[in-house]
Amino acid sequence: MAESITITDNRTGNSIEIPIVSGGVDAAAWRKLLPGIWFHDPGMATTAVTSSAVAEIDGETGILRYRGYPIEQLAEQSTFPEVAHLLIYGELPTQAELDEWVDLITHHTFIHENFRKRIYDAFHYDAHPMGLLTSGVAGLSTFYPEAKDIFDTENRRAQIVRLIAKMPTLAAAAYRFSRGLPFIFPDNANDYPTRFLKMMFDVGGEYEPDEALVRAMRVLFILHADHGQNCSTTATRVVGSSHADPYTAIAAGCAALYGPLHGGANEAVINMLTQIGSYEEVDSFIASVKRGGHRLMGFGHRVYKNYDPRAVIIKKAAHDVFGVIGKNPLLDIALKLEEVALADDYFISRRLYPNVDFYSGLIYQALGFPTNMFTVLFAIGRTPGWLAHWNEMIEQNSRIYRPRQVYTGSELRDYVPMEDR
Ligand code: SDX
Repeated sequence: MAESITITDNRTGNSIEIPIVSGGVDAAAWRKLLPGIWFHDPGMATTAVTSSAVAEIDGETGILRYRGYPIEQLAEQSTFPEVAHLLIYGELPTQAELDEWVDLITHHTFIHENFRKRIYDAFHYDAHPMGLLTSGVAGLSTFYPEAKDIFDTENRRAQIVRLIAKMPTLAAAAYRFSRGLPFIFPDNANDYPTRFLKMMFDVGGEYEPDEALVRAMRVLFILHADHGQNCSTTATRVVGSSHADPYTAIAAGCAALYGPLHGGANEAVINMLTQIGSYEEVDSFIASVKRGGHRLMGFGHRVYKNYDPRAVIIKKAAHDVFGVIGKNPLLDIALKLEEVALADDYFISRRLYPNVDFYSGLIYQALGFPTNMFTVLFAIGRTPGWLAHWNEMIEQNSRIYRPRQVYTGSELRDYVPMEDR
């Protein structure tokens, strides 16, 4: 049987056969046969906007691989800088490549003093850290005007390094600002997760994070590093496709991630668990979800119609962390919610399972992060993925994103003077 489809225009009887290649069919053939007729695909649920080699997701079987490597192996054996290199350059680095990469990132963690001292002063003390981070990333573009030269490979690498290096600094600065605490300069003697935790929580140079907490941070950054054409990566690609600089494209990724249906879900899960309040209230909450009164935040996924493999790893990491710093009391409510939902036909029929956000917030909260920092943590982790797709899009010499629409508005009509309305 031919790996192809045939489309027939019944108005003319004309047909065209289109080969199925890597799970997709080329829309150009459609345009040839049916000019002016568009696929109507709200949310792009059935549309492949690009080809990509960065991450492979199999939603049916719950598989996630970065450049072919299973997420389980990377979470267990790799480091965040190494995963960032893999995502962006396509290969695990040699020791020499990794040493150079880590050295570059380590020595670009500072942000310009003009920016650091004033960046957040324009905001209210209780501004949401994601609003601060999104603004900060966009503002960074003004310090590196050469970043607009996006077709220079070495220049792209320099901006990629800066963004991976500076996101934790901007993030920690947002937290310290919101707490009225002094800014902590990055300590380049530390590894990536340790440096971030110290910028966040150090007081007087005495804070040394427990190894189990650093391990959890490492795993969480790796698990969030990429996920194909998700909402925020698509936003990064869309903005990048206009040849905007990478800081502006990544700021677009931050903006999209902020929403509670996407990266904001980890914060929404904790708020949901807190609202449920007790183990005994779980059944009534599930009943409310089934009536449409609430969404079960942290459940469901556009692609995974099985258990999100990241949720499995995070659930295990949660137990490791709680073994060190004590159990998060909300864990019992989360476990009960999962148990009840996975046995209930409403969720089974809709193929709703825990996603990456269901347990991550419990760890973040146990690590001492306030809920309004959770999406910021997601953004730090996702930065290499956003950059890998931005880089790939430029290497593919992609066209500017400009989707079509099915127009359903008014037909032609003449302007009506006010006295005749
Ligand atoms: C992330 O795309 C990615 O890869 C994202 C991400 C990444 O790494 O980048 O994986 C990270 O964003 C994970 C998702 C975090 N969001 C949440 O946990 C928010 C709660 N989940 C949903 O709102 C929802 O499941 C989405 C947004 C994740 C997916 O939405 P879809 O694919 O558009 O699904 P849908 O809204 O069309 O739902 C299909 C059905 C509907 O029921 P019916 O209208 O058919 O009766 O399932 C129901 C929905 O009402 N449904 C839910 C639900 N999610 C879907 N019902 C209750 N609780 C939910 N969480």
